[in-house]
Amino acid sequence: MKEWQAETGYECWLRYARLEDGKLRDTYASVCGEIVTAAGQSEVIRAAVEELTAALEGMTGTAPLVSSETSGRRFVAIGTFGGGLGAVDAAADPQTVESLGEEGYVIRSLPDGGGAGCIAIAGKTDRGALYGVFHFIRLLQQGADPDKLAVTESPKNGLRMINHWDNMDGSIERGYAGRSFFYRDNEMTEDLTRIRDYARLLASAGLNAVSINNVNVHQHETLLVTGAYLPKVKQIADVFRAYGIRLFLSVNFAAPIQIGGLDSADPLDPDVKKWWRETASGIYRCIPDFGGFLVKADSEFRPGPFTYGRDHADGANMLAEALEPHGGIVIWRCFVYNCLQDWRDRSTDRARAAYDHFKPLDGKFMPNVILQIKNGPMDFQVREPVSPLFGGLMETNQVLELQITQEYTGQQKHLCYLVPQWKEVLDFDTHARGEGSTVAEAASGALFNRPLGGFAAVSNVGDDENWTGHLLAQANFYGFGRLAWNPSLTSEEIAREWICMTFAADKETEDVIAGMLLRSWSIYESYTAPLGVGWMVNPNHHYGPNVDGYEYSKWGTYHFSDCRGIGVDRTAATGTGYTAQYHEPHAGFYESLAECPDELLLFFHHVPYTHVLKSGKTVIQHIYDAHFEGAEEAAGLLAAWDSLRGKVDEGRHAGVRERLAEQAEHAKEWRDIINTYFWRKSGIEDVSGRTIY
Ligand code: GCU
Repeated sequence: MKEWQAETGYECWLRYARLEDGKLRDTYASVCGEIVTAAGQSEVIRAAVEELTAALEGMTGTAPLVSSETSGRRFVAIGTFGGGLGAVDAAADPQTVESLGEEGYVIRSLPDGGGAGCIAIAGKTDRGALYGVFHFIRLLQQGADPDKLAVTESPKNGLRMINHWDNMDGSIERGYAGRSFFYRDNEMTEDLTRIRDYARLLASAGLNAVSINNVNVHQHETLLVTGAYLPKVKQIADVFRAYGIRLFLSVNFAAPIQIGGLDSADPLDPDVKKWWRETASGIYRCIPDFGGFLVKADSEFRPGPFTYGRDHADGANMLAEALEPHGGIVIWRCFVYNCLQDWRDRSTDRARAAYDHFKPLDGKFMPNVILQIKNGPMDFQVREPVSPLFGGLMETNQVLELQITQEYTGQQKHLCYLVPQWKEVLDFDTHARGEGSTVAEAASGALFNRPLGGFAAVSNVGDDENWTGHLLAQANFYGFGRLAWNPSLTSEEIAREWICMTFAADKETEDVIAGMLLRSWSIYESYTAPLGVGWMVNPNHHYGPNVDGYEYSKWGTYHFSDCRGIGVDRTAATGTGYTAQYHEPHAGFYESLAECPDELLLFFHHVPYTHVLKSGKTVIQHIYDAHFEGAEEAAGLLAAWDSLRGKVDEGRHAGVRERLAEQAEHAKEWRDIINTYFWRKSGIEDVSGRTIY
């Protein structure tokens, strides 16, 4: 058994542990003994050089020399095309350089370059070079042959953003990994070390934007856009800038009243407009590359334009006008629905809301507005159909919103690798422009030829030593970044990359961890709410089973189970009409009981427990089987991890083990509560005669 130093997981995938393979270590040390950049480099290139230096020192045991001239040995050249380094210019022909995006790069082994030969990491811009360096490090961590490098990359999405739901009191809404590392006691943190390490993690995963406060903007946070806090916000923006990341703030639509001394926040009121213009100017004086505003308006009790009889386009455009002269953007969220519904009222359907609100406004937003759309029509459930707004909005910039933090997927106590779920969303064909009109194409802006687009996701990090609480939840953070950069990567490719960088494990260990990650979403789904019906969680905190937790509430989240059947009729023929929000063939497909896929059956249809699924099982038997099997598989995750004792350092092994043990226990609770509920409701026996209470 190997001797391991106990590790905390703080370094995540930028761990840079000494390579075990001595030959590889020597090769890398000699090939990368020197880093060359042009003199007088930008802070972004300096950050790249610093990162590569740390990586090489960690992995080979020797720090490379850094200089602006070659000394005759082999070297790594880092820079931008046309930036003064011949080796960098030699990395690609003019057409390739031309075709690169702003943040694109080329990595190339040049055996004859600069005398002894070199590796060129060449960015279109300095940010491109930084991403190239992180890619190069990733290749070294994966044991790549340094003589055979030929990589050309540009990100698919312009905006690759993390949304923090951090509050200034230090709490994090839906945070499961400790407290905020931006704020404490209504002040901003003075210690920027962790924020810098965070910026490194973001950039290494390919992310380029971050909003640092909760979309529910409370009292103190409303002041972030003012002189009271801007100098501190600037300090954070400065840290992020060195890693190519733009900072955004969530703003309070009622700020002109709450802090501006006005008696209205009406978006058409000249004084309100003026207030936002001046506020924006004040921000840009302090932070010239400020990204813009993220806005939750007229949603879950947040203020918005409805108060004044205006619509979302009026609200968003007013803010967009204020930001436009400075190059800023407004990211306006589509998570808008009636959260004061009467559960007796079957005509209102929360799933319809985003489309009903925003589709009529398509084409009415300014070019610097992006609508941010949650992946599904409800709220980050373990299984939901894809929001019909993708493919519905054709003349409006859009960004896909995902939730990395595991609000409804086990709160980082349960293992749930979400990349496979996100992949299904991205690959969903909206058919808006015929076959091949995937969500990935719509969100990037490519499908409708939009100038802006991308992905955003709610962060899962906090001040826990390992950032995410559950160490394996780091894979979701990493995976989101990688997918935002390149949505065509597979779940398995991303998982293996992450495992290799994080654990530097042998093949067998990698296989075990990859298997655990790749099965985990479906395992979690199987022992929680069945067949796409969603919810069934404890109200407010959303952890653990409670079948009727939201059944008689005002939130619009019902399953309608009685003694005969279960599910929500969202058909156009007899239900809420939600299915009609899709293009064909999905509209017809979901409408039809015969064609609707099993996993979404109860989202679209109310059926008897004896309804036979495509799998050949009845709904009730599916519920029993899935829950028994799911709980068993959760125990299997623990057993799989236990088989890695001695192969993963003790510190990280123990931390993960503790969570998997809790998951295995908690999965039984889920199993028994769900099965018992439906057995009692339906009175139908389990054909296998297992214990139900
Ligand atoms: C969910 C979540 C809230 C959050 C909201 C949002 O409803 O539970 O905490 O504020 O989403 O996305 O705005």
